[in-house]
Amino acid sequence: MAKVRGGQAVGKAAAAAATPKGAKLVFIGFMGAGKSMAARRAGEQLGEEAVDSDSLLEDELGEPIASFFDRHGEAAFREREEALVLKLLEHRGTRVIALGGGAVESVRVRERLAEHLCVYLDVDPELAWKRSQESGRPLARRRDQFLALRGRRVQLYESVARALLPAADTLEQALPAVAKLAERGVPASTRLLWARTETGGYPVYVGPGVLGAAGSLWPDESRCFIVADERVQSLHGERLATSLSERASVPTTVTVPAGERSKTLAEAERVMSALARAGMERSDTLVALGGGVVGDLAGFCAATYQRGVRLAQVPTTLVAQVDSAYGGKTGVDLADAKNYVGAFHQPALVLADPTLLSTLPEEELRAGFSEVLKTALIAGGSLWQRVQELEPLGQEFAREGRPLIETIEGCVQTKLAVVGRDELDLGERASLNLGHTFAHALEAATGYRAYRHGEAVALGLLVTLRLSEHELGLDAFVRERADELLRRHGLPTSFAGPATEKLLDHAALDKKRRGGRLSLVLLHAPGDVAIGCEATEQALRDAIEELRADRAAAR
Ligand SMILES: NC(=O)c1ccc[n+]([C@@H]2O[C@H](COP(=O)([O-])OP(=O)(O)OC[C@H]3O[C@@H](n4cnc5c(N)ncnc54)[C@H](O)[C@@H]3O)[C@@H](O)[C@H]2O)c1
Repeated sequence: MAKVRGGQAVGKAAAAAATPKGAKLVFIGFMGAGKSMAARRAGEQLGEEAVDSDSLLEDELGEPIASFFDRHGEAAFREREEALVLKLLEHRGTRVIALGGGAVESVRVRERLAEHLCVYLDVDPELAWKRSQESGRPLARRRDQFLALRGRRVQLYESVARALLPAADTLEQALPAVAKLAERGVPASTRLLWARTETGGYPVYVGPGVLGAAGSLWPDESRCFIVADERVQSLHGERLATSLSERASVPTTVTVPAGERSKTLAEAERVMSALARAGMERSDTLVALGGGVVGDLAGFCAATYQRGVRLAQVPTTLVAQVDSAYGGKTGVDLADAKNYVGAFHQPALVLADPTLLSTLPEEELRAGFSEVLKTALIAGGSLWQRVQELEPLGQEFAREGRPLIETIEGCVQTKLAVVGRDELDLGERASLNLGHTFAHALEAATGYRAYRHGEAVALGLLVTLRLSEHELGLDAFVRERADELLRRHGLPTSFAGPATEKLLDHAALDKKRRGGRLSLVLLHAPGDVAIGCEATEQALRDAIEELRADRAAAR
């Protein structure tokens, strides 16, 4: 057996802790993702031997994979690979494995992988192509076929992975968080999505029951100070505090009134004074339990209290679970302009438990669909497909789970990928503002009282899609489909609000201005976003007017 002996071992006990009883740590991913190296590194950290199924197979075949492949064909190769991998997954002594990129093509292998802790290592397709060229792999001879194969396999990898890492070089940081998945009390359906940041990264745990497993998933024993809105605190606060106290102490919970009106500097000052009175120190963790309002407000407090303390986000609305809890934008509103004061402050941990959505009022659940649609338009591909097929969101749906969980995960992956490439919002991250210039203008022009954020985003998306048709030739089908989906989910597709001139004034105040000009995010097609676009004022005026209730009714 071609084994790689671990170097700085931290002991068998650590290895046992990293995986459930009898289960193995299995690295999966496409060609060139760095699985062998990752397995070796994990083996070193855990004091275990790591094995590589491709190397073992070459030993068994007595020749390089490429030549066997060429002489006998892919089917014969897959047969030999399947037999070896199934044996490996049963072998009692082997704890850390790197699987060949195509091993997941086998249904039997995928079934067996469900019993183990699979870590999917993603890789940039171009980098994968370059690396695969260097190693002469048989399925890396034509670029178009290589990329199509990757697109298909990603879904297979994701279907069996419990941890999804954006790149192999995040492993060292992520490994302790991966190991947490094997802790007692952590539901088997919990998934870890690793968020890459400039200074490292953080784990996002998604799945039913992660709130109740907070204590098991918590990284250390630092004291936790919770900030929650009153409603969420009464529904879920105790469960979180009880779970956390299995691992860390919870000296106090500060509550704020529910709703956007709490996102003010005055409220931030009140919260921070309460934290100071309760004795919160720099080494403590601030836990934001609630929707986007609490996440933004408490995040801002965490960013500024004693010049910054650790933040954990526990999002409880759909908006927060698909969007606001990730990426580190925190802040409060000014009277005239939304999110005008704030700071970047990445969380250290996010726990997204979709079962919490079952207590969310239906109108809030529906409002969250706008952010889902926005993210799907940005992502394109499978997320856009999936979102078009979603049944109307209702509490039953929230309880039922699977399509919702997959949608949440897809949105989180999209957001983490964008933010990971542009954490400080200097370029690509602006794409996440799709539909938001008009949405923020509408919210501000109506004093943040007339529309939920998600409702304003629904209208903002329609304005944006209309402008995209006008400016970039977006297929009208996309707007018509978006309109239909928003209706299906009970969201507004027209409004009878403030005068267009007032909205344009507020739009001009929006932070997305560059050099005094309005900088818009538009769409060429789902999955193909254009940032920094300029539209004529008349085109913007027309797109807004189009949504006026009387005009919309006449359509
Ligand atoms: N930071 C970011 O990147 C980002 C991204 C998108 C939106 N946002 C911000 O998010 C805010 C909107 O967030 P939101 O839509 O979550 O609103 P929200 O936080 O006000 O929550 C909406 C309502 O739902 C209630 N609620 C929350 N969770 C509940 C639960 N599980 N059960 C029952 N009731 C529950 C709350 O008490 C509140 O009344 C806006 O201020 C927006 O600017 C921030």
